[in-house]
Amino acid sequence: SNPTDQQGIGGTDVPDDIDLSTTAGKLADLKRRVSEVANAGSEKAVEKQHAKGKKTARERIAMLLDEGSFVELDKYARHRSTNFGQERKRPYGDGVVTGYGTVDGRQVAVFAQDFTVFGGSLGEVFGEKITKVMDFAMKIGCPVIGLNDSGGARIQEGVVALGLYAEIFRRNVHASGVIPQISLVMGPCAGGAVYSPALTDFTVMVDQTSHMFITGPDVIKTVTGEDVGFEELGGARTHNSRSGVAHYMGSDEDDAIEYVKALLSYLPSNNLEEPPVFDGEVSDDALEVTDLDRELDAIIPDSANMPYDMQRVIQVVLDDEEFLEVQPLFAPNIVCGFGRVEGHSVGVVANNPMQLAGTLDIDASEKAARFVRTCDAFNIPVLTFVDVPGFLPGTDQEWDGIIRRGAKLLYAYAEATVPLVTVITRKAYGGAYDVMGSKHLGADINLAWPTAQIAVMGAQGAVNILYRKEIAQAQERGEDVDAARQRFITEYEEALANPYVAAERGYVDTVITPSNTRMNVSRALRALRSKREALPPKKHGNIPL
Ligand code: HXC
Repeated sequence: SNPTDQQGIGGTDVPDDIDLSTTAGKLADLKRRVSEVANAGSEKAVEKQHAKGKKTARERIAMLLDEGSFVELDKYARHRSTNFGQERKRPYGDGVVTGYGTVDGRQVAVFAQDFTVFGGSLGEVFGEKITKVMDFAMKIGCPVIGLNDSGGARIQEGVVALGLYAEIFRRNVHASGVIPQISLVMGPCAGGAVYSPALTDFTVMVDQTSHMFITGPDVIKTVTGEDVGFEELGGARTHNSRSGVAHYMGSDEDDAIEYVKALLSYLPSNNLEEPPVFDGEVSDDALEVTDLDRELDAIIPDSANMPYDMQRVIQVVLDDEEFLEVQPLFAPNIVCGFGRVEGHSVGVVANNPMQLAGTLDIDASEKAARFVRTCDAFNIPVLTFVDVPGFLPGTDQEWDGIIRRGAKLLYAYAEATVPLVTVITRKAYGGAYDVMGSKHLGADINLAWPTAQIAVMGAQGAVNILYRKEIAQAQERGEDVDAARQRFITEYEEALANPYVAAERGYVDTVITPSNTRMNVSRALRALRSKREALPPKKHGNIPL
């Protein structure tokens, strides 16, 4: 039933009932070609795709874009390769659908690899279609969304396919920080092909049906002897929870696409524009404390070792309590995501006392560093909530490079020129105090709750060091050591474990009642809307990688 399959050199055989010497015939011929474009993949291949729970490239584009908004580019493009009998099969589109359209009324460019044609494998024409639509997006300053579902480099086309991959990578890099780039991985994505998604701002995978790896299970088995399946090696859960390669795991394709649409709503079209603004600004009088805000007055437990729900703090401060988390399954000891304050996008970074006591480790540092840089590149203010007891101790952390990898978060904050507002809810100890959006790194407005403890370390640790001799002497004298220690702890807490020492020096601008947080953050972000700051001119910095 598919003309491309039956005719071999599909798209050129004109049926007898079409007379190309007439205008009507030429229009009929175009119509015929249009239908051939839409049915480039064989029925069998489409059935196979659907049986796997996967949609076709065109179905996916229809899900992503506003209805009727898609304008296709290069639908008549076909490969010209004659290797291995390829000339016998030249379907229109060459296995990738490219073009532009709108999401919520805003312009985007898309490419969707079509697994039903040549397994979505990338040859010369396929690659040229992608680079062309990327160049188009750069010219007009709109996001590019890539839908990946491919058997990789088209084997018959050899090095030409590899060349085109690198052409895409180079464009990914040059577009980085200029236009948002989002990758949806909705099938296989293997070998060097994974590096295009890796270079983009966000990678979204689909549970069970998408896989990413550099070398597959067979090669791994041969080389290292390890037995590992596709899902464990490079499935959506692995890359969302373990490797940190992906930013979201869709339960199915609809869920993945909805996430991408939500992400786009927080991002500007390019680095020279502001993110879209939604209704939300209220007059100063209306900016009053609500019952919801008052929840925060009771959220911090009396005991410093008890965790609490930082997500709740974030929700209370954001419009409609709406928070779109990025990488929710990876390094859960730090929370990153987008929300709005008075209708304007903000990126939120927060320590999570419910996981590893909110300590910073390698994964958390890298996750947050990447997120802060994404916000900074796209003019999105960063709102930081701090409750951090320090860096996670351990030989694995040290040997895996917490020094150079933790430095990334410092680097990201210090380099950011977008508005930075920081709220210290509880612990801000040691080097981690500096890292988490401190005044000294360049934050604009720093707020602290009265429960904040800004110090070199917690009371327990500090007393053991500062009063080691006194405690030992008390022991020798047969005195109540616990009572003595408690006395020193109270002394230390009163002297240092509070926000007022920092406030005295202006390291925090003010100490606020927790229920006033939303109001203070709103006012700070309003004031900072006109912030302008520039770094010294340079080719580029040298972030520790
Ligand atoms: C040409 C390919 C292809 C490829 C798949 N096809 N991959 N054609 N080049 N790389 C074709 C198949 O021949 C088949 O054609 C159709 O696509 C569907 O593939 P199936 O194998 O039937 O599908 P499925 O069983 O779902 O398996 C999917 C798959 C498998 C796991 C992706 O096709 C596969 O292993 N492909 C090869 C993967 C690979 O080694 N690629 C090169 C990697 S190197 P027909 O005509 O039968 O329908 C690479 C490097 C990139 O990509 C480097 C960038 C720098």
